[in-house]
Amino acid sequence: MTRLFKFAGMLLIAPLLAGAVAQPRAGDVRCTRCHPTETEAYARTQMAHSLSGITREPPGSFTQAVSNTHFSIEVTDSNEGVRMVQHLERDGFSGSYVPTYAIGSGTHAVGYLIERGGHLFQSPICFYAGRGWDMAPGYEQNQRPDFLRPVTADCLACHVGKEQPVMDSLNRYEDPPITAEGITCERCHGPADAHLRNPVAGSIINPAKLPERARDSVCEQCHLSGEARIANPGKQLSDFQPGQNLEDVFSVYVFASSRDPSQPGALKVISQAQQLALSTCARRSNGQLWCGTCHDPHRQPTDAKAWFRARCLSCHGDALLRTHPKPNDDCIGCHMPHRPVSDGGHTVFTDHRIARRPPAESVASTAPGANEDHSLVAWQEPATALEQRDLGLAEIEVGERIKDAVLIAHGAKRLSDVWPGFPKDVALLTGIGQVLLGVNDPQEAEAVFEQAIQAEPDNASNYLHAALAWNTAHDPEKAIEYLEKALRLDPLLEQPYTVLAGIYKEENQPAMVHMTYERYLKAFPKSLEAQRDVKESALR
Ligand code: HEC
Ligand code: HEC
Ligand code: HEC
Ligand code: HEC
Ligand code: HEC
Ligand code: HEC
Ligand code: HEC
Repeated sequence: MTRLFKFAGMLLIAPLLAGAVAQPRAGDVRCTRCHPTETEAYARTQMAHSLSGITREPPGSFTQAVSNTHFSIEVTDSNEGVRMVQHLERDGFSGSYVPTYAIGSGTHAVGYLIERGGHLFQSPICFYAGRGWDMAPGYEQNQRPDFLRPVTADCLACHVGKEQPVMDSLNRYEDPPITAEGITCERCHGPADAHLRNPVAGSIINPAKLPERARDSVCEQCHLSGEARIANPGKQLSDFQPGQNLEDVFSVYVFASSRDPSQPGALKVISQAQQLALSTCARRSNGQLWCGTCHDPHRQPTDAKAWFRARCLSCHGDALLRTHPKPNDDCIGCHMPHRPVSDGGHTVFTDHRIARRPPAESVASTAPGANEDHSLVAWQEPATALEQRDLGLAEIEVGERIKDAVLIAHGAKRLSDVWPGFPKDVALLTGIGQVLLGVNDPQEAEAVFEQAIQAEPDNASNYLHAALAWNTAHDPEKAIEYLEKALRLDPLLEQPYTVLAGIYKEENQPAMVHMTYERYLKAFPKSLEAQRDVKESALR
């Protein structure tokens, strides 16, 4: 159920095109005076452009075959900037949206965010460098693409300098939702106030000088997606601050098999940290090798071949060149080739495993096959008291995604064992409730969701969960009561409308069905499904 709202997070990619254009950004003004070189060079990186206002992509149109949905995109320039309209049409219904934000620098792709009633939703289409407009990752096979997928703070955490989510909500934000667009200096250097008051070395974090685990955590907060990222009790992913270890805030879980260097799987997006850890270079250099050895976030190499060669030789030494087979000038061309990724659509990434001999092009996926071992392990264990809780939640999340009942059962067992230690932990309660519903014990599930409601009475999702349990328990009145509570707290939560309409259908109350769809359409006036539902329910 929480699952129902999360969405296929990540992205895609196509061949590399020219990088984004430098725009000095307001957030950095405070640093420019004393650090002009770093500020200017950073402004040229993709990270500085990871989210922005609407950028000037060409207009276009295409039809998604599986749903027969036609999309067209208009782009107009005005004094106020670029305005884009994304239009969709299916079965005679249509809708138009004006996106507010572009997500992604466009090196590989640009996605779009729609703002409505203080909520952010994702556009189902992307502009891809090299191949133009197409479905966004995760929507390729979608039978009813629309602009309804909530954009959670967890999605923004890796792409935005600073966002302002409303506590206990799924995708509601303060006005404005985003106060710093591209990734800011602070995301790697931590809060700058002390340094601005006393501008000397040591009054601000320099990631390169941190202890190994804290150093690696700075980049891992965004470059290690793993299979699940589980926030510790009372934390959000975005609470992470440079200087901390990632596990102080959240734990990342990966398949145990993906940690075995003898089993090189296919590449997955956002797994540079995972791949690098598999390399002989990292395993044999006692923590000396990290992202910063090869990447300087304030410098874009003009000659990548020469830049990275110098990084390799900083450890391997010129002596290697005497014995190494020739030609040996383009180290990364042979040892870190660009490869297609297994889960990102038509995209290509750099192989960070630094293999002696590049593995064959298409090998098994990093996700183990259906009959293989799906055990999860922590990238780094959190505090002992949280180990079972975080792992249990990860097992349920991943188990539901890949439909592995054994993994879900393991997770449920773990959570029920540690439950007494976390009586008001909404994530844990939701996880247990979800499993109980899955094994068809709606009464027990409802009791657990009720505790989640007590812990977070303003969170609409908790009432939705309880309503689903009441509905499964064949108590439509209670279900309706809870669905209405959910909608009172958040009228832009989509699912309660369709569940409500479903209940009235079962109850054979066509007038209520129609009225519910009208409310649904009022909340989402351009939703193609809502338009269709209103029209069809009126016919009866
Ligand atoms: C008034 C001048 C001034 C301003 C403004 C300033 N800095 Fe500095 N910064 C310094 C000085 C001086 C040093 C020490 C340089 C040295 O020792 O080589 C420094 C060092 C640093 C270091 C290295 C710290 C270390 O221990 O290695 C970082 C990182 C840094 N600044 C980031 C920033 C950021 C980010 C901003 C903007 C939010 C900023 N600075 C604004 C003057 C400034
Ligand atoms: C707040 C999240 C975040 C943090 C922290 C972060 N990255 Fe990134 N990084 C991104 C995103 C998002 C992109 C892709 C930007 C795009 O193309 O839209 C990216 C892109 C990159 C790229 C591609 C080239 C470029 O110009 O941006 C490199 C290299 C990179 N990151 C290295 C690092 C390193 C090294 C660290 C740690 C010192 C780090 N990143 C920390 C989010 C982050
Ligand atoms: C765990 C951090 C993380 C999360 C969560 C995340 N991204 Fe990304 N995203 C990245 C990184 C890092 C890159 C750069 C590609 C890479 O390094 O694999 C990227 C790349 C992209 C790109 C392509 C940018 C380019 O290089 O042209 C788009 C578009 C994008 N993400 C959209 C999204 C959307 C939409 C969501 C939420 C639904 C999301 N991302 C969630 C980290 C993240
Ligand atoms: C993606 C992470 C990241 C971002 C964003 C970032 N930095 Fe850095 N910064 C680093 C790392 C890593 C180092 C250490 C480089 C090294 O010594 O290898 C560093 C070092 C520095 C230093 C010390 C340089 C030196 O030679 O000692 C300064 C100054 C600095 N950064 C300023 C900035 C400013 C200003 C911004 C924003 C405009 C910024 N950084 C954004 C990661 C980042
Ligand atoms: C921080 C130091 C460091 C850096 C930087 C580094 N390596 Fe390594 N690399 C090592 C160590 C240590 C080994 C293991 C050597 C040994 O056991 O004899 C190694 C091993 C290798 C191997 C053999 C792999 C195997 O499985 O047998 C290759 C190939 C390699 N490195 C290529 C590169 C390339 C290419 C670069 C630059 C892109 C690079 N390395 C950068 C430390 C480094
Ligand atoms: C041994 C050198 C080396 C290390 C260490 C390294 N990278 Fe890279 N990285 C590269 C090379 C080479 C490229 C490709 C650059 C190019 O094509 O211009 C690259 C590309 C990238 C990109 C662009 C997207 C892609 O996959 O092509 C990102 C993001 C990135 N690295 C992140 C990281 C992060 C995060 C770490 C630490 C976990 C890291 N890298 C460690 C060498 C390294
Ligand atoms: C044309 C492709 C190619 C280029 C370019 C290349 N390598 Fe290699 N490298 C190889 C192959 C193939 C092997 C494995 C040789 C073997 O197994 O006998 C290898 C082996 C290695 C090893 C392991 C050597 C050992 O004795 O254990 C290292 C380290 C290494 N390369 C580093 C580098 C560095 C650093 C560069 C750039 C200066 C580089 N390579 C450029 C193909 C290349």
